[in-house]
Amino acid sequence: MKKYISDFTIVEKQTYGQQYFKLVLKHPDVLPEITPGQFVEVEVKDNKNVYLRRPISIHDVDTQDNTISLLIQIVGKGTTTLSQLEVGDKLNLVYPLGKGFSTEGNNVLLVGGGCGLAPLLHTARCYAAKGIRTKVLLGGRTANLIPIKDEFKPFAEVYFSTEDGSLGEKGLVTTHTIFSQPYDRIITCGPNPMMKAIARYANEKGIECEVSLENSMACGIGACLCCVADTDNGHKCVCKEGPVFNAKDLVKWSNS
Ligand SMILES: Cc1cc2nc3c(=O)[nH]c(=O)nc-3n(C[C@H](O)[C@H](O)[C@H](O)COP(=O)(O)OP(=O)(O)OC[C@H]3O[C@@H](n4cnc5c(N)ncnc54)[C@H](O)[C@@H]3O)c2cc1C
Ligand code: FES
Repeated sequence: MKKYISDFTIVEKQTYGQQYFKLVLKHPDVLPEITPGQFVEVEVKDNKNVYLRRPISIHDVDTQDNTISLLIQIVGKGTTTLSQLEVGDKLNLVYPLGKGFSTEGNNVLLVGGGCGLAPLLHTARCYAAKGIRTKVLLGGRTANLIPIKDEFKPFAEVYFSTEDGSLGEKGLVTTHTIFSQPYDRIITCGPNPMMKAIARYANEKGIECEVSLENSMACGIGACLCCVADTDNGHKCVCKEGPVFNAKDLVKWSNS
């Protein structure tokens, strides 16, 4: 798939508590096709200590407006600098990168933990465009750390799980009762321990499971080999051959 590098203009910015913000970015031209789960490499311009672009999932796409959205958690110097951008500022992106989710299956559960929910909105939208209403489970330590709550509702049935019980069922995402329902596919993005537990559950039940890895990245295009994951077919670059993998193909993911 062809990659592009160009400036987008920030046309909307929204903050969610202290940790999360969303940027809606407009391009003057028609956007290429973007598969859910693909990501962009964002240039961090106004910080001399940040040399590398930062990989961020494509949160949502509006093909009518030529906009894409990014949902970003502030964790360090790059994301802090990005959080200081305002409407009207430009942001340079390399896009669309990586291989995304398959959007196969009819009875599908999407599970997002923390900022791992970011790629799931475009995913739910794409399933809905195929006439499939997914179930979406969003988890976090507490309600305030689940940045978006209502946006999924037009496309999906939404469930929540928080460790302190402030929203939805109390406990870990992986203990939510929604898992007891039958699925032919589970799609997940979030912390590795959460995704590994889901992969093991899916393997036991014979459910296809796609996971989106967030390995540290540099080039984002398969050139520097700093992001490799161990698969049954050898080392694979997460940026180019992922970030989405079938959990069955990842060594020690489904049965460790
Ligand atoms: C394919 C992909 C998609 C991603 N999508 C999103 C997204 O949609 N929204 C979002 O908020 N973040 C996303 N991330 C994570 C994001 O890239 C990092 O949080 C970001 O690069 C950190 O940059 P920084 O300069 O703020 O932090 P740094 O100053 O570089 O690091 C601060 C802290 O964050 C940790 N950190 C850095 N990168 C990662 C990472 N990849 N995973 C876990 N911890 C990390 C560091 O170890 C350090 O402890 C994604 C990562 C990948 C690989
Ligand atoms: S980030 Fe360079 S090969 Fe993946």
